[in-house]
Amino acid sequence: MMAALTGRIPLIALSVAALFASAVHSQVPAKAQAAAAAATAPPPKRIKSFDDTMPSSGARIDPATAPGNALFQQHCAMCHLGGVPKAPSPNFMGMLAPDAIISALTDGVMKAQAAALTPKQKIEVAEYLTRTPYASYKPAPPPAQCSGASAQFDMADVPQPIGWGRDNSRFVPAQIAGLTKAEVPRLALKWAFAYPAANRARSQPIVAWGTLFVGSQDGTIYAFDPETGCTRWTTRLVAEVRTAIVADPVTKRLYFGDLLGRAHALDAMTGKPLWSTKVSDHASATITGTPALGGGLLYVPVSSLEVVEASDTKYACCTFRGSVLALDPATGAEVWRAYTAGPPTDQGKTRQGARILGPSGAPVWSSPTYDARTQRVYFGSGENYSSPADENSDAVFAVDARTGTRVWSTQLTPHDAWNVGCMLGNDSCPKENGPDFDVAASALLIPLAGDQRILVVGQKSGEAWGIDPDTGKIRWNQRLGHGGTQGGVHFGMAAEGQRVFVPINDMADTHDARVYDAKLRGTGLHAIDAATGHEFWYANPADNCAGKQFCDPGISAAVTAMPGVVFAGNLDGMFRAYDSETGAVLWQTDTTRPVKTIDGRIGNGGSMSGSGPAVWKGRVFVNSGYGIYSHMAGNVLLVYGPQSKPAP
Ligand code: HEC
Repeated sequence: MMAALTGRIPLIALSVAALFASAVHSQVPAKAQAAAAAATAPPPKRIKSFDDTMPSSGARIDPATAPGNALFQQHCAMCHLGGVPKAPSPNFMGMLAPDAIISALTDGVMKAQAAALTPKQKIEVAEYLTRTPYASYKPAPPPAQCSGASAQFDMADVPQPIGWGRDNSRFVPAQIAGLTKAEVPRLALKWAFAYPAANRARSQPIVAWGTLFVGSQDGTIYAFDPETGCTRWTTRLVAEVRTAIVADPVTKRLYFGDLLGRAHALDAMTGKPLWSTKVSDHASATITGTPALGGGLLYVPVSSLEVVEASDTKYACCTFRGSVLALDPATGAEVWRAYTAGPPTDQGKTRQGARILGPSGAPVWSSPTYDARTQRVYFGSGENYSSPADENSDAVFAVDARTGTRVWSTQLTPHDAWNVGCMLGNDSCPKENGPDFDVAASALLIPLAGDQRILVVGQKSGEAWGIDPDTGKIRWNQRLGHGGTQGGVHFGMAAEGQRVFVPINDMADTHDARVYDAKLRGTGLHAIDAATGHEFWYANPADNCAGKQFCDPGISAAVTAMPGVVFAGNLDGMFRAYDSETGAVLWQTDTTRPVKTIDGRIGNGGSMSGSGPAVWKGRVFVNSGYGIYSHMAGNVLLVYGPQSKPAP
């Protein structure tokens, strides 16, 4: 799926036969779409391997000739190439910081397995895995520690149920925002921080107890003073934090998930790790959606990058099954697990002789939605990875929050099996060949007139759906864009009352001729009515790419609402505030421009994806930079506040 492993990975042109043979879920006939696409789509670019989609700065290690290659084959491959459950795939290890790998081998969990390696060989293995010369890897000194008043937590600022993990409508009420619509045009940069040794910044910042908490690529979690940017504590774990941080108002714990599929709890006041739970035995499992707190449990969504592994024509695809786990927030112990697809069983062999296992996949990319009224948890799933596609891909589920028992499930797109083999045009691609229409964004549970409620869901098909939370019945469907592997709704929508803000990422070069339609291209922000799906407005501000490499004007990141205003960051690095009544742009800034950081360095943002902004007491906090899967690198945390009014 491309929402979370998201991105512009140019698709290889599909053969005409495959194009018409595939099942396509769409309101526009496939033939008409294909004709439109042929007329308007830019010529496809070819990619040879998934590595081609990783933008890099500086020198790269050639894996074929690196001395670490042979060391890895000799000392690591027997476990890490699928031999041992829980051993992360090389794909994931390549996304770790080089020093995190070396410390895992030196005094971490891999100490025994790497006992035969010299310090130099450990560096060589890390260089091979990360493709980064160790000499060019420079972790920066830690940011300044707070002292005096700025070191104090504000215990009266108890975290409210807003934002991912507490409330997926991502609405910040006036008293917490501390910012008015009239002040938004005067927003200016207050301070910036550059995450060390990072080319992406995708953990959603949050503020609780007067402290800004955010995770980062090298596995550091920061507790900043939101006013000055000094730190109250920092804690470094091993792997990238991809989710938002969730603050538990009662126990003062912080919860989040990491790249290697571990859920963590820290003490919010000290940063001390309390527990850590590996949520899946699968080598490619990861946590992308934010764990959600409700009813005394922590609901953790499990996704995976096996979709990438699957592109290897020798790989037995696939064994991962999406799920949501309920953990005891006090201990991290598993209470229940609800699977989406599977279990996978033998389904024969590919033409090249690799085993096919299915049904598989249907990962859960986004934060589950807890419903206190019915004690249910709602979540969406992505595509199957292998044939046969089943009824659990691209679906929405309601499960009992106490037991995980399924109450209902509603499939939005049938017959969707896809993996990166389809993008490379190889034999690993399942016969369904997509369309990879994940239900990628969290479901919004919205109160309507009377006692009614509706679940609003966004999909990579470019559609928004209104679903009855009690029965799972579809009440309405609204097409806002053409969707595609890199199209439609990605990380998250927001709502102000009944008005839902739906970001669309339709890319000009989606290269999926089955869905590409310039007329339907809905890139930008849409406001719709939660009761009916009726569209109030559509805003598609100017494209800021101007020939920049890895740039696209779509909105992949989650958006955030406050009274009268919606904030949205684009893949081209533009960060904008829209008038929620009209869609007019109230304010905008280019986050790719170099900025001076609080510790005197120069940093810059890049593509904005994954998480969205946080708004708290007159400040707007946002991350910029997404140097992965063909997007623009960057590594900054940016903090904005209104400048004082100019004298009349
Ligand atoms: C005997 C099997 C085995 C061998 C051999 C092995 N690993 Fe691991 N490795 C694992 C397992 C299992 C885990 C997951 C441990 C966990 O999550 O508790 C892991 C985790 C890791 C991690 C993540 C570390 C962390 O703190 O989460 C890294 C990095 C790693 N291995 C690198 C290597 C390298 C490099 C080698 C070769 C020098 C190697 N491993 C050899 C089984 C193995």
